[in-house]
Amino acid sequence: MGISVLASAALFALPISAWAQQGAPQGHPEDYAAADIAHGARVYAENCDRCHGADGAGVSGVDFRTGKFRNADTDRQLAMVIGRGFPTAGMPAFALDTADMTGVIAYLRNINNLDRGSIPAGDADRGRLVFEGKGACLSCHRVKDKGSRQAPDLSDIGATRSAGTLERSLINPQEQLFPINRAVHIVTREGTAINGRRLNEDTYTVQLADEDGRLVSLSKSDLRQYTISTKAAMPSFKGELTRDELADLLSYLLTLKGQ
Ligand code: HEC
Ligand code: HEC
Repeated sequence: MGISVLASAALFALPISAWAQQGAPQGHPEDYAAADIAHGARVYAENCDRCHGADGAGVSGVDFRTGKFRNADTDRQLAMVIGRGFPTAGMPAFALDTADMTGVIAYLRNINNLDRGSIPAGDADRGRLVFEGKGACLSCHRVKDKGSRQAPDLSDIGATRSAGTLERSLINPQEQLFPINRAVHIVTREGTAINGRRLNEDTYTVQLADEDGRLVSLSKSDLRQYTISTKAAMPSFKGELTRDELADLLSYLLTLKGQ
């Protein structure tokens, strides 16, 4: 799902033609499978959210909530636009595979109906009490200077994730697990075992936060074992918290926007 800036049109012709062969729907919200929309929400959160915003109105002159695009009518044209980007205007080209492209388009077509998720707006102050009390979120997470470093820092989660994404993290964390949040188990050549969360990785090195929250940077050639878990360590709160508590909690998370 990473970004790559493509040098030539020939390169991206491949994934898009594969995508176009599927008999793509043409833009009615109800034409899209729920699973595509859910997957697309993740693709969007990882790749598009930071410019276009959780509400789809983050780029001036572009508002996904209207359901209309200046540069595209059909889904096929949308795929072309996303595949090419607008390099001079600041949007990189996205080489998305079929699942990601289909998903993100399904999500764009539905952003207005779905982004708020199915939980109604709650009370953020009560939500903070759930966060610090019954939910015991601080036993794993950190917000500003409070809590544990075992799990991702949530201090600016309300700025980086959409409501729908946060809701899925609470109710179905397995489905919502971002690659960057996966737990890793490492054994170095000297035999030291390290458990932690991956923060960053390239071809030669991996950076993680260990169980005590310390930043560790390792050279991959020094590792005897490197396992990445695909199982979410975040517990599901479906049934653990009432609907009202979930609504309050979600409203509180949406207020966490860093400084
Ligand atoms: C680095 C910022 C940035 C990122 C990341 C980004 N975009 Fe854009 N996008 C823009 C800008 C800026 C424009 C407006 C270009 C113009 O109007 O010339 C735009 C325009 C668009 C348009 C055309 C809108 C229209 O009305 O025709 C679509 C569709 C779009 N983006 C989809 C996406 C998708 C999907 C993603 C994620 C896979 C994404 N963008 C990621 C900056 C970004
Ligand atoms: C047992 C430890 C634990 C507890 C308790 C816990 N979480 Fe998590 N949470 C995690 C871990 C670990 C992740 C990273 C993804 C994964 O491994 O599932 C995570 C991920 C998340 C994410 C997604 C972060 C992102 O990058 O989008 C959110 C939001 C979140 N947790 C909120 C909460 C809230 C709110 C509570 C309390 C109601 C809570 N968590 C309780 C361990 C925990």
